[in-house]
Amino acid sequence: MSQEANINLAMQNKIENLQNKIKAAHLGGGQSRIDSQHKKGKLTARERIHFLMDEGSFEEIGMLVTHRSTDFGMEKEKYLGDGVITGYGNINGRLTYVFSQDFTVFGGSLSETHAEKICKIMEMAMKNGAPIIGLNDSGGARIQEGVVSLGGYADIFYKNVQASGVIPQLSAIMGPCAGGAVYSPAITDFILMVENTSYMFVTGPNVVKTVTHEEVSSEELGGASTHATKSGVTHFACANEIEAISYLKKLLSYVPQNCEETPDNLPYEPGDEQRPNLDHLLPQNASQPYDIRDVVTAIVDEESFFEVHAAYAENIVVGFARLAGRSIGIVANQPAYLAGVLDSNSSIKAARFVRFCDCFNIPLLVLEDVPGFLPGTDQEWNGIITNGAKLLYAFSEATVPRITVITRKAYGGAYDVMNSKHIGADMNYAWPTAEIAVMGAKGAAEIIFKREISAAENPQEKWMEKEKLYSDIFANPYRAAERGFVDEVIAPSQTRIKLIKAFKMLENKVVNNPRKKHGNIPL
Ligand code: HXC
Repeated sequence: MSQEANINLAMQNKIENLQNKIKAAHLGGGQSRIDSQHKKGKLTARERIHFLMDEGSFEEIGMLVTHRSTDFGMEKEKYLGDGVITGYGNINGRLTYVFSQDFTVFGGSLSETHAEKICKIMEMAMKNGAPIIGLNDSGGARIQEGVVSLGGYADIFYKNVQASGVIPQLSAIMGPCAGGAVYSPAITDFILMVENTSYMFVTGPNVVKTVTHEEVSSEELGGASTHATKSGVTHFACANEIEAISYLKKLLSYVPQNCEETPDNLPYEPGDEQRPNLDHLLPQNASQPYDIRDVVTAIVDEESFFEVHAAYAENIVVGFARLAGRSIGIVANQPAYLAGVLDSNSSIKAARFVRFCDCFNIPLLVLEDVPGFLPGTDQEWNGIITNGAKLLYAFSEATVPRITVITRKAYGGAYDVMNSKHIGADMNYAWPTAEIAVMGAKGAAEIIFKREISAAENPQEKWMEKEKLYSDIFANPYRAAERGFVDEVIAPSQTRIKLIKAFKMLENKVVNNPRKKHGNIPL
């Protein structure tokens, strides 16, 4: 055999050897564990990446990494990749980094090397200014590795915090996520969970039973519905993994690659921007509810509204949308739920959303119809003061373009908090139906005309007379407009036109908050 043929054969063997390794890596923990994953109604880690990334764009990093553990005979059980697939690729043409935990390898548990792979990809995402997506499906710390695994978690948490506000971080929970493992997703910007196949909790049902004697299933304790409605831990509860993946892609479409960039504008053909139906949307009686989402969808580009946290603290609506192709964040009081009152949960929900938009240069639109803060011992004892202050703080520190439209009520402290002119909003519009005052006319009359009312021959009649007086003076937008607290009173049908122009006018806005290490938001 010639020397050349010899070299070719040697090379062929080496390539074959490599191909065998790749094949083995692709099999993860083996076919029977893949089958068992499918039987649970779950995709494998690789299938998830396949559906997430643009076809053929995914490049894997660290496929041949194995664990270093030698306790409990672990040196005899090694799988290429060590339970997590990491790499980069494109989502709708945009560079994105991803890690996807492989439940078929030691239950996707986190070893020292597994953690190193995740940290490496996070560092690359930060250096190159692109989003990172984590697809979580893990039994938690690799029990055989002990404290080394806990250290790995802490390394990830630290990186999550470093990356926070620098690049968008999204977490999809596709299986178990328990113990301290929950804190990495919790630090990221958005969490998506899958109904019935995913759960998150700090301690599982068995520990709960031992400590508190409560009997609760995994699903009830930490399933997607629980976290979407009761705790607000997850922003989305998805029907299945494919829906979760489509939501991840959709979310990314509204956000830029990193904090130095602005979101992509979609091409937009200007047309008739009047929305006459908005002139007829509000009920005649100011105490009747209406769905603020009808106002949102009438204002924004068709089918562009993407609600976030939809099932949690429903008295406030938050989400992304597009206005003439431009990505915006929306915060809107919801009169159809608890009359749109602000309480602790809605304040926290909105504050977190406002801060996300501000981190990533997404302009904010606020639709305001708020009767005030919710009274009561429950709210006071649960810290409505601190929690309401979170929203006040979040709006006040936001430097993105900020516009408010008062559709109806803007009462009390809530008027100030909901992106008022005083806390830095750029443009404040009011519909003619706006009522801007310290409180509702009935309550106000009772307080300021107390003596007159009780001295009257017919107190009820007097009260109504004074209520009308107060209402005539304040239940309109004109006192605020006289002061310049409202820039313009507009017919509802003109709202979209006004907003398109105003956001365009504000696109080069520059505001520099005072230099500081960081503020101290009332957590
Ligand atoms: C090593 C693990 C593992 C783990 C599962 N496996 N969890 N290996 N470390 N943490 C392995 C199993 O041995 C099994 O291996 C395979 O993964 C699949 O597990 P099953 O139990 O057969 O699957 P299932 O019935 O679906 O149950 C999944 C599970 C359960 C609910 C996640 O495995 C479980 O309870 N695991 C332990 C969870 C846990 O206590 N983790 C530590 C939490 S504390 P084979 O070879 O049979 O396929 C923690 C602290 C983090 O994470 C702190 C950070 C600060």
